[in-house]
Amino acid sequence: MLNKLTGRNKSEHKEVKHELEPSIENIPKHIAIIMDGNGRWAKKRGLPRVAGHREGMNVIRKIVSSSNELGVEVLTLYAFSTENWKRPKPEVEFLMRLPERFLSAELPKLIEENVVVRITGDREKLPEYTKRAVDNAIESTKNNNGLILNFALNYGSRSEIIEGIKSVYSEIDEGNIAIEDVTESLLSNHLMTSDLADPDLLIRTSGEIRLSNFMLWQLAYSEFWFTDVLWPDFSPHHLKEAICVYQNRQRRYGGV
Ligand code: FPP
Repeated sequence: MLNKLTGRNKSEHKEVKHELEPSIENIPKHIAIIMDGNGRWAKKRGLPRVAGHREGMNVIRKIVSSSNELGVEVLTLYAFSTENWKRPKPEVEFLMRLPERFLSAELPKLIEENVVVRITGDREKLPEYTKRAVDNAIESTKNNNGLILNFALNYGSRSEIIEGIKSVYSEIDEGNIAIEDVTESLLSNHLMTSDLADPDLLIRTSGEIRLSNFMLWQLAYSEFWFTDVLWPDFSPHHLKEAICVYQNRQRRYGGV
């Protein structure tokens, strides 16, 4: 039975507990994750919020390896939203240091595992140390052809769509295209994710049931899976659970 308020299907959760090996036939190609609950995880332990973010970073390495093993093609992680600048300065700085911390420890392994690192978001407003770390990882992994690890960093979906519309408008203005040429796929091609397929599966941790300005256009037909598990407690087991639920869903794209 689907709980209409939460979108959760109680029986889905029960059913999959017993068979936690997703079928290799129907692995979602693109999984997007809103990694939420770091602050609450820390608070429960009497720790500062940043301790939750540090633990959250440690979870990423396990989820990347596991996604890679399962044959996921793209893993997008919502690491910092355009709204997150409103947080206290020390927390923002800590979050901005995480890519550097993560990549300085993990880059050799990511290269070895054939992972391609990239970011989606407004790169220009990032501090120099963050840009340096991600640019170096992007450059070092550009010839790999395995899992795409896509960090949504300083990302906001509404502003992405506005920029996409402006870019389409200039094409019209310059006479490169006519208004009749404006289609869904044309606008998709003017978004930051133009070279990526839309996510098949969205996961959000920590019990919050909202999108928080994340990939509003791209998630139009994605399957959503929400869990109460806080991101620092999220494990490959939960990832597999989400994939099993996904595999039991019927995607109809508006058809019957
Ligand atoms: C939301 O939890 C989480 C974030 C805003 C940051 C997520 C970042 C990571 C998990 C690590 C990123 C690492 C790299 C390498 C980029 P919250 O702080 O809003 O939690 P709360 O809702 O419990 O307060």
